[in-house]
Formats: sequence, C-alpha cells, structure tokens
Amino acid sequence: EKGEFEHFMLKEMFEQPQAIRNTIRGRLDFEMGTAVLSGLDFSERDAAQINRVLVVGCGTSMHAGMVGEYAIEEMAGVNAEVEQAAEFRYRNPIITPNDLVIAISQSGETADTLAAVREARQKGALVAGICNVVGSTIARETGRGVYLHAGPEIGVASTKAFTCQVSVMLMMALKIARTRRLAGHAGTQFARWIQRMPELVEQVLKQNDVIKAVARKYAKCDHAFFIGRGYLFPVALEGALKLKEISYVHAEGYHAAELKHGPIALLEENTPVIALLNNIPGKDKTMGNAEECKARNAPVIAVVSEGDEAVAEGFDDVIVVPDCPPAICPIPTVVALQLLAYHIAAARGCEIDQPRNLAKSVTVE
Ligand code: M6R
Repeated sequence: EKGEFEHFMLKEMFEQPQAIRNTIRGRLDFEMGTAVLSGLDFSERDAAQINRVLVVGCGTSMHAGMVGEYAIEEMAGVNAEVEQAAEFRYRNPIITPNDLVIAISQSGETADTLAAVREARQKGALVAGICNVVGSTIARETGRGVYLHAGPEIGVASTKAFTCQVSVMLMMALKIARTRRLAGHAGTQFARWIQRMPELVEQVLKQNDVIKAVARKYAKCDHAFFIGRGYLFPVALEGALKLKEISYVHAEGYHAAELKHGPIALLEENTPVIALLNNIPGKDKTMGNAEECKARNAPVIAVVSEGDEAVAEGFDDVIVVPDCPPAICPIPTVVALQLLAYHIAAARGCEIDQPRNLAKSVTVE
C-alpha cells in the first residue's frame, strides 16, 4: 500500500534509508574491517583466487554494476568489467574458472540477465546473483549470491533497488579487497561509511522541497543532459534513465568528457544540464565542462557537496548533497536525481508508477 504517499515511487524513494539498513544488517564486520556475505558461499581462499569480475545486468541494475566495477578495481585491485547482459550472452565471452560473474537483477527474472547466467555457468565461471525477489529464477539458478532485502519494489522506475544493489556491490568490493591489498584499518573505515549511508540518504530526502522547486522550474523542457565522471558517471546515466522513463523528457546521461565529442551541439537555452560536481576526483574537470555548457546558453543545475557550495557559483541552480568518499557518493547523489525526475514527471502530469510502454520486469529479450 502507498499509505500517505501519492505514488509507489515516492514511497519507495523515502523507504531507502530503511531498505539500505536492511541490506547491510549483520553484513559488516567492523573489527575485521570486512563484509560478511554468507550467501556468496566462498571462502577467503576462493575470494583471493578471483582474477576478474564480470558484472552483468540491464537498465538500472547495470548502472549499479558500474559503480561496483569502479569500487572493485579501486579497492581490491582486481580487474572488473560491466556488460549489458544481452551483449554478454551473444558475443561468446571469454571466461576462465577464476572469473567471478555477478548477475544483478531486482526481479531476478530479466530474460537477458538469466541467459547471461546460464552462459557463464556453462563456461565454468563462479557465478553469483544479486537479487531482490527471493526465490526468483536468477537467485535459484546462480545458487549463490546476496539478497537485497529491500522489500517489494512496485514502481516501474527502480529506486530503492538501485541504492541497495550499490550497497551490496560496495560490500562485495570490500570483501574481495580485504583478501588483497586493503589494510584492516582502511576496511574498518570503509565499513563505517557504508553504515552511514542510510543517514546520508535521509539528509537528501529532507531536501525534497528544494529539489521540487528546482524540478518545477525545468518541468517544461523537453531535453536534458546529465554529466559526471568517475563514480558519478553511472549516476549520470541513472539520473537520465529515471527522467526519461517517468517524465518522457528526452534525457541523456553522458560522461562529462564526452560532451565535446558531439552532444554539445544540442545545447541551447531550453536544455538544462545537470552537472554532478560532488567533491571527488574529476570535479574540476566537470566544472570546466559545465562552464562550457553555460557558455552555450544551457542552464546548469549543479549538484555539489555540502561545504563546497562555492562550486555552484555562476550556475543556475544548486542541489547540495552530503560530502562523502568517492565510492559512497553515488548513494546520496542518485537519490537527489530520483527526486528531481519524480517532481518533473509529477509537474508534467505523468503516470509515474506505470509509465507508458514499460513493464516492471522484462521477461522477453
Ligand atoms: O529486474 P531487473 O533489475 O533485472 O530489471 C532490469 C531493468 O529492466 C530495470 O532496471 C529497468 O531499467 C527499470 N525500469 C529502471 O528503472
């Protein structure tokens, strides 16, 4: 039931602090500075032997996988790649027994992701699932994995599943990293940041009215760009996906550096650019790109870290999110973009929980 909320999507966005708490409950070991993911069912030795991680999924789940890819490479020093599940299944991927293939799927029923699981198993990889729906096909066929425990997600636009998927990916990265190069104290510090994530999300949710006001200002625009770098690149993709699916605004998520290679030609005064300028490596470069957008008369909505508000000077609007380490920052930032998309869709009178042409789970390829 939606209760006090007008839409399931809104309810599910506001459930995120609790959903993330449920995802991480009992899974962080602060003393050892690691994550305990019993469903993964591999020993420290198995983890130490992994020499490549391949993450497969579709849509929002693939975006969560991208955050995981960055975290696994950065923290564990293990080669990680993310691939659209359909692409993976059809290109005869090269797989060795020391590859870990992680399939991410909220529903656990997405046809292409399931086919990718079968392909990887057949080729002898270690396969794990990250699913929300208990007992779903992907959860069963992978045999090992981590459930989100996010509770049912009804809104077609995925919100709490994404933040919980990222939470699991970060815990997996921590676990693998602790069998490699990450020192115990650094692991403990990271585990503490994971534990703080629900609170970071709460801080963003408190700004619902501010974000709504920004959304109303741009609700009539028919095009929008989202730009970011590093951990914020997948967040830019996810922000654009949210906006296009529920508001029918043509939205593009781009790596900030890619703008100059074509899309900048589309900018004009009615095409807002949402620039992810959080205080992480790459910020200064993205700022430069955002300034280039302004110079083409595009309005810029700057998403900045708390305490670093000066970055937004000269831009049109600002959304402030809590300051946190790079790997953590997708969590609060995406919540701001979910709210932005929601309020734009609401102002446009869209059918938010059941957008046209979309189904909650895509069981045909
Ligand atoms: O159930 P899954 O996570 O496998 O679904 C994957 C995508 O179909 C899904 O994330 C889709 O992109 C959502 N509508 C995004 O909001």
